[in-house]
Amino acid sequence: MQPMPGAADSRAELIRVLRAACSGELAAGFAYRGHWKSLPDGVERDRIRIIEAEEWHHRELVLRMLDDLGAARSRRRDAIFWLIGKSIGILCHLGGWFVPMYGAGRLERWNIQEYEDAARFAEEAKLAERVDCLLTMAEVEWEHEKFFREAIRHHWMRRFFPQWDPPPAKETIRAPFARLFVNESLAVTE
Ligand SMILES: [Fe+2]
Ligand SMILES: [Fe+2]
Repeated sequence: MQPMPGAADSRAELIRVLRAACSGELAAGFAYRGHWKSLPDGVERDRIRIIEAEEWHHRELVLRMLDDLGAARSRRRDAIFWLIGKSIGILCHLGGWFVPMYGAGRLERWNIQEYEDAARFAEEAKLAERVDCLLTMAEVEWEHEKFFREAIRHHWMRRFFPQWDPPPAKETIRAPFARLFVNESLAVTE
């Protein structure tokens, strides 16, 4: 069956968002590598090291999804974001404690939205089987944003840097898609 024009548009939008996310994860991976290496041993260093691993895992998932959709990553965009990630990773060694934490929190706030958008486009494109994976990535980004926001909360430099809009409760990520998962569980038990 030919997809409806709306579904085709949503598929194109999904691919556009996934390409952007793919490059963003590359930059994030290298930036966090520089970030945790710039920190002394301790809980924060360990947590950001785990966050780095989670970003590489996201990139793998996104690459696989693009491949399944018959689309390729943007190599040009990857090259630009490679440079951005590497540069941020180096700057983390020079920028002190606060700026990398603040910048990471702002970017993570964006990343949550990016995967929520991708999940919406996937559903509209009749690719509901992709939604769970995309929402799980949004939930992981939600945890990242929370970590950075809480880390800087009481820092004296906060007064010079505006607080970004914190995301709503984590449950709101999956709530708009709840019917998909109800149907899924029914399908399994039938
Ligand atoms: Fe990520
Ligand atoms: Fe993240």
